[in-house]
Amino acid sequence: MSITLITGATSGIGLALASKLAKQGSELILTGRRGERLDKIKTELSQNAKIHTFTFDVSSRKAVEKFLEASKELLPRVSVLVNNAGLALGADKLQEANIDDWETMIDTNVKGLLYMTRGIVPYMVKANNGHVVNIGSVAGRWVYGGGSVYSATKFAVRAISEALRVDLLGTNIRVSNIEPGMLETEFSLVRFRDPARAKKVYEGVTPLQPEDIADTIQWVLSRPPHVNIQEIVIFPTAQAAIANIHRRTS
Ligand SMILES: NC(=O)c1ccc[n+]([C@@H]2O[C@H](COP(=O)([O-])OP(=O)(O)OC[C@H]3O[C@@H](n4cnc5c(N)ncnc54)[C@H](OP(=O)(O)O)[C@@H]3O)[C@@H](O)[C@H]2O)c1
Repeated sequence: MSITLITGATSGIGLALASKLAKQGSELILTGRRGERLDKIKTELSQNAKIHTFTFDVSSRKAVEKFLEASKELLPRVSVLVNNAGLALGADKLQEANIDDWETMIDTNVKGLLYMTRGIVPYMVKANNGHVVNIGSVAGRWVYGGGSVYSATKFAVRAISEALRVDLLGTNIRVSNIEPGMLETEFSLVRFRDPARAKKVYEGVTPLQPEDIADTIQWVLSRPPHVNIQEIVIFPTAQAAIANIHRRTS
């Protein structure tokens, strides 16, 4: 039986997708840094599906190498890799922003995604079968003030997705880049480290929910093998463009 590997499955999109796929009985490898959450999720989802969990930080090359070694019996059966683990930190102007935050975003969103892809795709090539789903962002297509480095990381995800597709041409491996707009998860809490500020992001708006993106990924994965959905941009109806958001006043 084939396996779907989802990075960042402890909350948000990753958790919603894991729950959806587990309900269908899919075998899953779920990862994240918060081991206790992974344990709880494993218990919940194991009622319907076989779940493997691994606690590690994707931004650490050594930790990813350890994971690849520890899971090597499972990896030949991985047919779907969802590179979802990622984050934004801060929203300050570039000239004022925290350089440590930049390092973390680049190390996680770009280098982490690369380490995982480099580790898993050779197994897919060997099997001549697979699907890499990268979670980009509308910030990987358009920029906004205070989002320079987060945008840069998601522009990189788009570039990596496009180039990987070219590198894999001639194989049966598909590469998709999913680019959500405003989405209510723990994302803003992580970004601002302040619950009140995070709440304000969604004030007067009906944002996307993680289940909306999980539904989309499930649809992308279920297309016939000759169909590769290369890219999907998804905004909530109240967001016409990256910086054009309609907020209800009452
Ligand atoms: N929410 C939005 O508005 C939005 C819009 C467009 C795109 N996205 C993208 O969607 C993806 C998922 O985010 P989300 O909105 O679902 O946010 P979330 O609820 O904060 O989930 C992020 C997930 O990534 C994991 N993660 C973060 N850093 C990690 C690291 N260094 N190593 C391993 N796992 C790590 C977290 O797990 P641990 O903390 O347990 O490690 C968590 O499971 C991200 O790539 C994000 O950039 C979000």
